[in-house]
Amino acid sequence: GAAGPVAQEVLAAVDKSVCNIPDNVLAKVDAKLHNAGFHPIATIKERIVAALPAETVVVDALSPVVSTAANFDSLGFPADHVSRSKSDTYYINSETVLRTHTSAHQVELMRAGHRQYAVFGDVYRRDEIDASHYPVFHQAEGVQLFDKEQLAATHDLGSEAAIGAWLEADLKGSLLKVVESVFPGELEVRWNEDYFPFTHPSWELEVLYNDAWLETLGCGIIHPDVLTRGLGADAAKRSVGWAYGLGLDRLAMILFNIPDVRLFWSTDERFHNQFTSRELVQFKPYSKYPPSYRDVSFWLPAGDGAYHVNDFYELARTIGGDLIEDVALIDEFTHPKTGLVSHCFRINYRSHDETLTNEFVDSLQHKLRIAVVADLGVELR
Ligand code: PHE
Repeated sequence: GAAGPVAQEVLAAVDKSVCNIPDNVLAKVDAKLHNAGFHPIATIKERIVAALPAETVVVDALSPVVSTAANFDSLGFPADHVSRSKSDTYYINSETVLRTHTSAHQVELMRAGHRQYAVFGDVYRRDEIDASHYPVFHQAEGVQLFDKEQLAATHDLGSEAAIGAWLEADLKGSLLKVVESVFPGELEVRWNEDYFPFTHPSWELEVLYNDAWLETLGCGIIHPDVLTRGLGADAAKRSVGWAYGLGLDRLAMILFNIPDVRLFWSTDERFHNQFTSRELVQFKPYSKYPPSYRDVSFWLPAGDGAYHVNDFYELARTIGGDLIEDVALIDEFTHPKTGLVSHCFRINYRSHDETLTNEFVDSLQHKLRIAVVADLGVELR
């Protein structure tokens, strides 16, 4: 199909001798799963947004096409940092990349005057594709800036150290609210020291879930050099701030019990139809093998209570077991003269492990036809 606006932006800037973006990744740059209706990633985003303080500006439509200056330099990444390499990052040309994190927008958004915001966006890192790795994923990033004098006055903080301690507590408290908004029930968490070029000090938060410690996010006190780039030297001296970034995909996998990241990119309605409630429903696996439909019609035995549709559903399960994905009553008809009622059922035979042959499906359907007559007393049409 036609390229979307981000793909067009990429194509317009491509330097063929540099660009390392494969077609399958280019095909994803306009997907914006964090804004995609009832997608599990959009649901995690909505839960986070609902838990943010009301003043927070939510930014969710920034292009993932950013400069290396924004993605790396403005955040103090050294010139030889591994994440700048073409083996880790998708380059469009030597100065333009697909953002590797939402932190790429920190300086830009500070320059635009934002002091309390949350950015949601698709981010890109070169990676293999398997059940737990995908080169496109999604992040939420929260930033809040404070005026030091104001903070000292309103919270009675007498020293830089006191301001630092208050800021750390505010960051950790704010983050816990976000994490509590996505995880159901009581939470056990732990903070570990971490390192990022653009925050100091820095921490990672781990959450205990189903007996495993999960790294959920990185955070820290914004580095003064980043504030200087975003606010200018004078305002930076008067300011402090914190930032956090959290990955949405792994959270969504854990919370919806989705076993494979590739499912997020599925266009199969059997995936998407499971999540329309916006609740943390548990994903029910479905088969990737093709369906095989067979219909059966019969006249019901006369007399009330002689037959119930559930008798048919149960009989079909007894014969087809897990190879029957679905049974649907597709037609009901009353004969104008005899008054007899006929039911037509459509059975969808499908395996989780293989493509069923027509011969095999026919043999199952044959058994079912014999059984309905023998067990339910119906007359086949
Ligand atoms: N951008 C960091 C990452 O992708 C996360 C982060 C965001 C860390 C903000 C600190 C502050 O790993």
